[in-house]
Order: sequence, then structure tokens, then C-alpha cells
Amino acid sequence: MDSLTIPIADDFHLHLRQDAMMHVVAPLVRAGGVGRCVVMPNTTPPIATAEDAIRYRGALEALAPDVEFLMTLYLLPELTPQAVSTAAAQGVFGVKCYPKGVTTNSESGTEDFGAYDAVFSAMEAEGLALLIHGEVPSNAEKDVCVLNAEARFLPELEKLHGRFPKLRIVLEHVTTAKAVDCVKALGSTVAATVTAHHLDLTVDDWAGRNHNFCKPVAKYPHDRDALRQVVCEGHPRFFLGSDSAPHPRSAKESACGCAGVFTSPLLLPYLADTFDRLGCLDRLADFPSTFGCA
Ligand code: DOR
Ligand code: ZN
Repeated sequence: MDSLTIPIADDFHLHLRQDAMMHVVAPLVRAGGVGRCVVMPNTTPPIATAEDAIRYRGALEALAPDVEFLMTLYLLPELTPQAVSTAAAQGVFGVKCYPKGVTTNSESGTEDFGAYDAVFSAMEAEGLALLIHGEVPSNAEKDVCVLNAEARFLPELEKLHGRFPKLRIVLEHVTTAKAVDCVKALGSTVAATVTAHHLDLTVDDWAGRNHNFCKPVAKYPHDRDALRQVVCEGHPRFFLGSDSAPHPRSAKESACGCAGVFTSPLLLPYLADTFDRLGCLDRLADFPSTFGCA
């Protein structure tokens, strides 16, 4: 087969940055086969209000007029139920929750989910999605490190869904068999995004190789197999969110590296290659173009 045509894709998780980096990466979204994307709010400072989101969207639209940008707010203490209603009225798509300290620009992240009950109720009523970076912070006393940080987060997801069953929740960039099982077992309002890189990488690919380092880190081969399995079987609550996260080469290649894999300009070709190797090219259209949108 020389070519394969599928509908334009949705990327439900994308980092487009600011300033010079934004000018480089925003015009490349469409080249990767994506016509609509959910934009992450972990800029400096974070996207905190509907006004910030609309200003950011304007800057992105000027750089990539052929892409639709769905905006998100960073879950911060100043986000009130009233601000949620304002955001909904202004067309904001959702709210992103980063547990404090788990990844790039998550210093202002959430420490206590219980503190946001009123905000989650307002989101549930307004139809805003809650997008969750599902990891708990590393903690030696609790034996938590990057390899089990996602699995340790899952009880929190179960509790949230139990308390807000109508709230649309996306567990982002799942990396473990446990997360796949958990999302499958929860109700129809809970979904998960899967990145292109997590369908390919395991621990051996990032340990000592900074360009493959991202959060959550790629896990064991059996975890990667569970991700492959769930997308190949075409489960409708698992869809594309690339988490394409560009950093300057100098930062990726510095002594401490920094989390993020940049896939956006080649996103659909990467996916097509992976699906082809897995023998499920017939599933390629649904994963990036149908399920998330539905
Ligand atoms: O690898 C990552 N990079 N994971 C995230 O959650 C954030 C992202 C970034 O902003 O660089
Ligand atoms: Zn991300």
C-alpha cells in the first residue's frame, strides 16, 4: 500500500508553548495530520482564566489558521464555580489538573482534590471536561517513584468518578496495563488518551536517552502491550492525545534533561507506522479521528 487516507485527526493533548517556540511549533500541527487540538495550559504563567485562554487561542490562530484550538484552564485555587461558568460561556473546552510537582511547569499543581468539589460540580453542570495528569508525586517513604506513580493515582480517579459520575474525565497519556484496566472498568464518562510515543517506547528506550524521556515515563513491555491491545481492539474510550511537548535541544540534552517528546509534525505517519507494524491499520481512522470527538 502506498497511501492511506483518513479524516483529519483530533489531538486531545498538545503543548504549543509561547513566544519563539510557539512560532516554530504551531504551524507544524497541520503537517502532522491534525485539524483540531486540545491545548495544554502549562505555560509560564499558566493559563488561569477564560481571558488568558482566549488571548492564547488568538495567538495560535494567527500562526495556524487551518487548525481549531480547544482551550483549557490550569486547575488553580483561584478557579471558582463562577469562573467555570464564564469559561464555559466563552467556549473553553476543559480544565487541566496537574498534581503538584509531577512534571514540567506543575509547581502550581493540585495538592488536594477535595478542595475542588465546588469547581468539579460546576464543571459537571457546564459540561467542561476534566483532563488529568494521573500521577502522584514521587515519595521515598511511600515507595513511590516514576514507575508506579500512575498506578498509585488510580484510586484517586475512581473516587473522583464516584463522586462526580457525570463529569467527563480524561485520564491523560496512560502508560500502564493497570490504567487501561481501570478506565475500561469505569463508566462511560471516563476516557483516556494514548500518545504515539507510549505505543512504542519502554523503560529501556528512555533510561540514558533524554530525547525519549517524558512524564509519565514509558513503562514495562507488558504495559506497552496493553496500550497496543486497547487501541488495536478499537476501544471507543481510548483515543489520541499526542502530548507532543517540544523543548529546546539544549534543554533536552542538559545533564538533568527535561520531560517531553516532540511528535506533532509527524504524528499521523508515526501512528500509521505503529498500527501497520501491529497489523491493525484498519483501526487507524477511529483512534485519532472518531473516538475522541464522540
Ligand atoms: O513529558 C511531559 N512533558 N509530560 C508532561 O506532562 C508535560 C510535558 C511538558 O510540558 O513538557
Ligand atoms: Zn502534556
